[in-house]
Amino acid sequence: MPLVNTREMFKRAYEEGYAIGAFNVNNMEIVQGITEACKELNAPVILQVSAGARKYANHTYLTKLVEAAEIETGLPIALHLDHGSSFELCKDCIDGGFTSVMIDGSHLPYEENVELAKKVADYAHPRNVTVEAELGRLAGIEDAVNVSAADASYTDPAQVQDFVERTGVDSLAIAIGTSHGAYKFKPGQKPQLRFDILKEVSDRLPGFPIVLHGASSVIPEYVEMINQFGGEMPDAIGIPEDMLREAAKMAVCKINVDSDLRLAMTAAVRKYLAENPSHFDPRQYLSPARDAIKSLVMHKIETVLGCGGKA
Ligand code: G3H
Ligand code: 13P
Ligand code: ZN
Repeated sequence: MPLVNTREMFKRAYEEGYAIGAFNVNNMEIVQGITEACKELNAPVILQVSAGARKYANHTYLTKLVEAAEIETGLPIALHLDHGSSFELCKDCIDGGFTSVMIDGSHLPYEENVELAKKVADYAHPRNVTVEAELGRLAGIEDAVNVSAADASYTDPAQVQDFVERTGVDSLAIAIGTSHGAYKFKPGQKPQLRFDILKEVSDRLPGFPIVLHGASSVIPEYVEMINQFGGEMPDAIGIPEDMLREAAKMAVCKINVDSDLRLAMTAAVRKYLAENPSHFDPRQYLSPARDAIKSLVMHKIETVLGCGGKA
């Protein structure tokens, strides 16, 4: 099957109480590790490309790698632009073979976010491309979870219905306490997500797919391995897996993971090179890196997402 957009994936995920993994891809080994895991567990998947990934690896290389993964696996795969910052970038990706785009206007004043998201949706939909937008801001939330000023950063449920109706977007990323990167909570701080906001958002948008960014769990096994083999990542803390599983049973249909992939890959490379200091063939250390990504993604599908067998 050709690459698909996210419409059918999300419809079924919502109805059956699971989420699709949206994994960031930057090179061949990452694409292969993720999609081999999905093949083994018969899971649909979203492979997402950031502006940084596009700059690093080039639009055509990434598109062709994802197309190759679809040919090799026959799975439903969506190719998604992660954090599109402008109409022009979204248009470039829509015209260049992506099946889904995110327009991230979350930093803009509300009316400007509406206007930009609508412009992208109006361009994308006649071309059979689905659109994700964002309301609320993730950055900095972890600094002030227990401080009332932090509420300004969480998604305001009172806005979501108006936003979705006026823009026509297909899914909405919301801020409920997740954040990007490997340091999501301070040491000693109790990780928590605002399930009350998620519930209120989904009550106001029945049947509508919600997205969680910044949803890596920062799996301790990989952090420990990095630290054991010469890295320095003290105090890396992520979102507990049981909370993500809970969100996936609710309205959350897309869970974004990048940091966990980076940690798994880096841990495997560090370990391999530490144990084999004379080796210099990149295939030797990229093989365990690819294997680590595969086992991480299998773990996510089984423990967090619940999308195994749903392809
Ligand atoms: O949300 C951001 C993703 O982790 C992508 O990161 O922009 O460094 O590729 P990047
Ligand atoms: P993490 O940094 O938690 O992996 O989040 C990735 C993400 O949201 C990509 O858009
Ligand atoms: Zn993100």
